[in-house]
Amino acid sequence: MGVVSFLHQKGGTGKSTLAIASALCLAGRGEKVILVDADSQGTSAEWANRFGHRFGVESLSQIQPVLEEDARRLSAEFAWVVIDSPPSLSPITQSVLQAGGRLIIPIRPAWPDVWALPWVAAIVKKLRRDRYTLDPLVVFNQHQGESLSPFLAQIAPSNLPVSPTPIPYHPAFAALFEGQPLPADLTRQVLTLVGAD
Ligand SMILES: Nc1ncnc2c1ncn2[C@@H]1O[C@H](COP(=O)(O)OP(=O)(O)OP(=O)(O)O)[C@@H](O)[C@H]1O
Ligand SMILES: [Mg+2]
Repeated sequence: MGVVSFLHQKGGTGKSTLAIASALCLAGRGEKVILVDADSQGTSAEWANRFGHRFGVESLSQIQPVLEEDARRLSAEFAWVVIDSPPSLSPITQSVLQAGGRLIIPIRPAWPDVWALPWVAAIVKKLRRDRYTLDPLVVFNQHQGESLSPFLAQIAPSNLPVSPTPIPYHPAFAALFEGQPLPADLTRQVLTLVGAD
């Protein structure tokens, strides 16, 4: 239970997809969940407007940087607060980080996604020094069987933990945006990722 944020400075890595998938899978287990869209692109909010009711996912568009207070208030009301954030380290992203909880950093097995990680590592380190409780976890997304070793070697000095289970490239993730649920094996994987298993 708690706050789970999806964040990376790099665009298109799967933040919105995995935030939506997490909210949907948690609600599917009967958990009370709110999906907070902190990205003005509005992907998660749009998904929630169209399909949230189908899965029992409530939502909130939050594009002002006051999430720390909001997360506290929402945590009292919802078992899970799932936050989707923009591809930047802007004030709104800083406030998402200050909401604390599990911080999932999706990356594709691609160098630009890996190269952007030290920026996230630095800000996590700073916030921890400022006594924010953050539990970061890098997860490979859209994995198509490529070797992860070179990427893992590059990530190691940042001291960011990496999920041992990459999320595969799968058409079911694109089908979320047509209002489809995830199949059982991917549901299990997503629940493990957010720490709900
Ligand atoms: N595991 C996956 N398998 C297949 N397609 C995926 C997967 N994860 C994400 N995608 C697709 O990749 C694209 C980008 O994903 P998404 O919008 O979630 O990224 P994002 O990090 O939120 O992007 P932005 O930085 O613009 O907010 C989407 O078309 C989505 O359907
Ligand atoms: Mg997004």
